[in-house]
Amino acid sequence: MKLTLEEEAMLKGKYGPGKQKAMELTVSLGEAFGAEELVPVDSVHILAGGRSYDEAGIEWLEDLVNGGGVAHPDVYVTRNPGSADHELWREMGLEDDLVDLQKRLDEVVIRFGAVPVASCVPYLLGNLPRWRTRFCWAGSSGQVYANSVLGAWGNREGGIACIAAAITGKTPAYGLLIPENRYARVVVRPVDLDPDTLKEEDLAALGYYVGQQLIDKIPVFTGLPARMKIEQIRALAYSLPVGGGIPMFHIAGLTPEAPTVEHALGFKKPESILEVGPQEIARTKELFRRADDSHIDLVIFGCPHCTIQEIAAIASRLEGKRINPSTRLWVCTSKQIKVIAQRLGYVETITRVGGLVLADLCAGPACPMGVVTPKVKVIATNSIKTAFYAPGTSGVGIYYGTLDECLESAVAGEWRG
Ligand code: F3S
Repeated sequence: MKLTLEEEAMLKGKYGPGKQKAMELTVSLGEAFGAEELVPVDSVHILAGGRSYDEAGIEWLEDLVNGGGVAHPDVYVTRNPGSADHELWREMGLEDDLVDLQKRLDEVVIRFGAVPVASCVPYLLGNLPRWRTRFCWAGSSGQVYANSVLGAWGNREGGIACIAAAITGKTPAYGLLIPENRYARVVVRPVDLDPDTLKEEDLAALGYYVGQQLIDKIPVFTGLPARMKIEQIRALAYSLPVGGGIPMFHIAGLTPEAPTVEHALGFKKPESILEVGPQEIARTKELFRRADDSHIDLVIFGCPHCTIQEIAAIASRLEGKRINPSTRLWVCTSKQIKVIAQRLGYVETITRVGGLVLADLCAGPACPMGVVTPKVKVIATNSIKTAFYAPGTSGVGIYYGTLDECLESAVAGEWRG
């Protein structure tokens, strides 16, 4: 790979062992993917979940920082959520060990130079890579959103690659950083579906199904509404990489690289056309209704983190009701959005009826939902990502449904889908 004099110097250790290690990692990644050069990144988002790091992982990061491996001043670095709410972890029922591990990780992440948004929606919190600027984000949902909706350029990278990019300010030019790799290869066409009536949970099931069918081929969706809310577009963005490994998508007439289907395809013929109807969506939802018991121990929202509109919807539906005493309700969001929700009275409403609005906490694989006391065994969620990961990472049974179905279940204490 061609390196600049500056990059060579960093690789040879001129700027200390932390930066040297980061450059070694960045160059190895580039060589593995056949990149010819490194390019600057403006935006990085790193992982920081206590359940995703063990002691050795935290020590590795501490050593890196102690050796001068800190975020480059020209790069805006944020961090993903962790495994504990820093204020409400006792109410959550978490064990001290996990919280101590998370606090230690949080400290080193701040020393590293990451802005502690502790959220997977950095694009709603100031880390907003602009059109055609390069970014390096860990975590799949934000990365797909940034490529597809913001038109910024970035690959789905692992946690260590993003840490290295934050330090060096560089990422290898391969994959979605090459314009011709960003074109769609398959047209997705809804059949017998009224796009205007599709709820977020239907769109997430659609995205999961398309991900399963296309694995990693970029789709262009046709026949979707010309106006979609952030939550609706995000439902596709977060579910496509759960069903498969799709790194970006286009919606004809809506996303920036798809003014038309032809533009999205780069004016080439599609490799295939995938038709999706109500049966595929219904069958996909059924995949995520697997529990031995209809009693619900936990209803969890916020994977990806809830927007203020979602919290408003939850609060308004719970007004005048009461969460079943045998069921917990966790609404996960960022601290910043929680502060706004507090000012608007939503946190008070949700807390009064027996729920918790939690900040800094991942509602997916890094969530400690299976380790709380008493042990949570069955959950309900409106996130297909939580529904996909939670049985494996937390050993729980799951029910996937709409926001309303989940809230009715929280009140009843049993699944009402
Ligand atoms: Fe966010 Fe954790 Fe889900 S980081 S997207 S809540 S897996």
